[in-house]
Amino acid sequence: MLLGTQRINAQGHLAIGGCDTVELARQYGTPLYVMDEADIRQKCRALRAAYEKRYPNSLMLFATKSFMNLAICRIMDEEGMGLDLSSGGEAYTALKAGFPMERTYLHGNNKSMWELTLAVESGVGRIVLDNEREMDLLQAVAAERGLVQDVLLRVTPGIKPQTHSFIQTGQIDTKFGLGISTGYAIKGLATAKGLPNLNIVGLHCHIGSNIMGLDSFEMAARMMIRFAAQVRDELDITISELDLGGGVGVRYMEDDQPPSPEDYAEAVITGLHDEIEKYRLPHPRLLQEPGRAIVGEAGTTLYTIGTIKDVPGIRRYVSVDGGMSDNPRPTLYDAKYSALAANRASAPLTQKVTVAGKHCECDNLIFDVQLPEVEPGDILAVQTTGAYNYTMASNYNRFTRPAVVLVHEGTAEVIVERETLDDLLSHDRLPERLQPSVTA
Ligand code: LLP
Repeated sequence: MLLGTQRINAQGHLAIGGCDTVELARQYGTPLYVMDEADIRQKCRALRAAYEKRYPNSLMLFATKSFMNLAICRIMDEEGMGLDLSSGGEAYTALKAGFPMERTYLHGNNKSMWELTLAVESGVGRIVLDNEREMDLLQAVAAERGLVQDVLLRVTPGIKPQTHSFIQTGQIDTKFGLGISTGYAIKGLATAKGLPNLNIVGLHCHIGSNIMGLDSFEMAARMMIRFAAQVRDELDITISELDLGGGVGVRYMEDDQPPSPEDYAEAVITGLHDEIEKYRLPHPRLLQEPGRAIVGEAGTTLYTIGTIKDVPGIRRYVSVDGGMSDNPRPTLYDAKYSALAANRASAPLTQKVTVAGKHCECDNLIFDVQLPEVEPGDILAVQTTGAYNYTMASNYNRFTRPAVVLVHEGTAEVIVERETLDDLLSHDRLPERLQPSVTA
């Protein structure tokens, strides 16, 4: 499977964005995250076009939890996207990137005072309130500055999409948001209405992540409109913005069939129009917050193959120079990945191997992938690592986090430097009494 601008070049090497990945590995070292800029931009454009053609009053937000740094903020700005920020750290990064903050939405189920303060002071467009405690905190922050903050309320529609249970978030039993069916959502809105420095502009929901079917998205859209009608009838509040979250799946494996932007937009917007007509509501501004669908397929991680171990009759382990520190998803969610030998990309696939990470536990990145004959020193390219890899990377076993390189039309640029061993030490402090003794 070749994704985005991935091609096999004349040398039989995998190329991305016109750059030879074997050359990238040599120049920047491994493990290395390679991001395909053209693919990221194309995904933004396809999603925006699919929505804007059916529903002109819409805004696409990029969920930065999936991939966040200064460069991606600039690309999103150039593509006319907004940002869905999930923390103060993400808000700070957007601010430093010069992103127009009025196009940002701050989420989170437990926003702290400093995050709310940063958001209000930096002009975050909307704060998506998750609970009544946040309403009180935000009221205080806004009142102190004499401002009225636009807010959305996150509600849980009670939908359980088909995906890994750790990334289902729309059901009633979740830490996120206020439940519609429990009555907490309407009660929360009544509370927010009574707070003079909060201006309720709309509702938000997010039902889960890496969802391949469209039914749950359509159902969520319908339920949210029905709830907007209830809100109008009972509280006389007009919902002028409806944010339906993210969650569209991507291709990790050859036979994965994520919905196309056109099918996704069609399902959501058909459901929306139907219910809006039925309940005679004004059309709200429509927002979606894809993360994985924008950057997932654009990312490839390059590793150098090291030890190859045979367990006769059972399996062959091909170890690489990274693992759960740069990609925790197989360990956390049993996530599946595809890979190819970047320096032998056109060689026949002759063996089934297990790709093992090098951490001090069983971190296998991929069970059972077909590869050609490989040897130590070869470059392995694991695909579809653009979302939730770099942002979830850790320093487990004192590994340094990899660099991120952005490739585009034959040019490669580092957008995140590789951490150094001294970076790791730079936050350690040694109390005087633990200094190594000079006599030793
Ligand atoms: N909006 C909200 C409020 C979210 O919580 C999320 C993701 C998104 C948007 C973007 O969802 P996406 O389009 O990327 O599916 N670490 C997990 C994924 C957690 C997703 C959390 N929320 C993973 O590696 O699969």
